Amino acid sequence: MMLGAVQLGVLAACIVVLVPMALAGWHLSRNKVLFFSGALFISLAVAVHLSPYFPSLTDFFPDVSSSSSSSTLVVLENRESCISFLHRIQWKNHPRNMNFSSSWKWMLSDENVLACDFQKLGRNDVGDLLNGSWVMVAGDSQARLFVLSLLDLVLVEEEMVAVRGELFKRHSDYHLVIDRVGLKLDFVWAPYVNNLTHLALELNRNHSCPDVLVMGSGLWHMLHVNNATHYDASLQLLSRSVMPLLVGKSQPHLFWLGMPTLIHSMLNTEEKRERMTSATQFAYGLGVRGAKLLRPGGPFVLLDIQSLSENCGERCTEDGMHYDGVVYEAAVHIMLNALLIQSQQKL
Ligand SMILES: *[C@@H]1O[C@H](CO)[C@@H](O)[C@H](O)[C@H]1NC(C)=O
Ligand SMILES: *[C@@H]1O[C@H](CO)[C@@H](O)[C@H](O)[C@H]1NC(C)=O
Ligand SMILES: *[C@@H]1O[C@H](CO)[C@@H](O)[C@H](O)[C@H]1NC(C)=O
Ligand SMILES: *[C@@H]1O[C@H](CO)[C@@H](O)[C@H](O)[C@H]1NC(C)=O
Ligand SMILES: *[C@@H]1O[C@H](CO)[C@@H](O)[C@H](O)[C@H]1NC(C)=O
Repeated sequence: MMLGAVQLGVLAACIVVLVPMALAGWHLSRNKVLFFSGALFISLAVAVHLSPYFPSLTDFFPDVSSSSSSSTLVVLENRESCISFLHRIQWKNHPRNMNFSSSWKWMLSDENVLACDFQKLGRNDVGDLLNGSWVMVAGDSQARLFVLSLLDLVLVEEEMVAVRGELFKRHSDYHLVIDRVGLKLDFVWAPYVNNLTHLALELNRNHSCPDVLVMGSGLWHMLHVNNATHYDASLQLLSRSVMPLLVGKSQPHLFWLGMPTLIHSMLNTEEKRERMTSATQFAYGLGVRGAKLLRPGGPFVLLDIQSLSENCGERCTEDGMHYDGVVYEAAVHIMLNALLIQSQQKL
């Protein structure tokens, strides 16, 4: 059997990733993350530069073409490009008695996903990664569900009981400091994009900025304003308003929480069914893409709730709009992996 270029690349990747990780005892705190990336980049640089000097390898496996083997390595060398593969997730619906539950994992059949080595982080690793951070999530009920899934990864069940009660007080802000982890978390109720713009301006005025800022809004606008052109314009304004935050001293990591896929037949009021049509959804989606909001043209990394919810499917929602925790959990893990990648890039 021939050893494919991909397998070889992955093998090399596994060695350079796993060896330093094993040495460091598999923890992901900031300093250790920096250590990993140092080890990773050095090993890869060595691998990439030495590979031409091992012709014997290609002789031995004539299948290995140098161009495809180096493309796998380049993906890893430039970890930032891994961010674009983070949404390659597959879903599974499990029948459980008469009910269904869903789970997800990254598509390991995809060579890029495999090479990027994404991780579902456990409680201790999340605590380590976010230690000393200020995380702010601002938006509507989608943002609140995202916070819930994030806290689910940080807190233990007894602590979650109290949080659930507080967080779901209707339309209010929520502030939490978790001393154990040194994590400060703010949820800011901001149903409209202009609420987000005000928040960005206030952060700027205050000269204080969270380390991680997650924003997202659209459903309220779709329901109550129902004008995609206006939505697009308000997103452009938001995009300009967050720009000054990025040139400040503490540059936040910015994430945009996309709108979910709406399942029209399941929407629970007449007003929603009338206004939230698939044509409107499509127009609002174009607005987000046109507004220079998302990378690479704009400041935010997309957490694509639309594709995650669509792929989880209608079994994952009861009202066609708010999805089961597992959808937002996937988005949280995507964000955490993007943070890992971005902090490595800062080296
Ligand atoms: C199935 O779902 C129903 C309603 O959502 C719930 O009351 C019931 O406890 C669930 N059964 C199981 C076995 O999870
Ligand atoms: C967080 O960091 C502080 C100081 O940097 C350290 O004392 C503490 O043990 C850390 N906590 C966790 C949970 O890693
Ligand atoms: C959000 O913006 C709307 C519309 O401008 C405004 O009426 C509302 O008070 C704002 N809400 C918050 C929480 O700032
Ligand atoms: C800005 O500063 C004021 C005064 O310290 C504070 O009350 C407010 O919460 C701050 N705003 C944000 C968004 O951090
Ligand atoms: C939609 O918003 C745009 C931009 O704000 C405005 O020019 C237009 O008149 C609005 N359309 C409707 C039907 O209100």
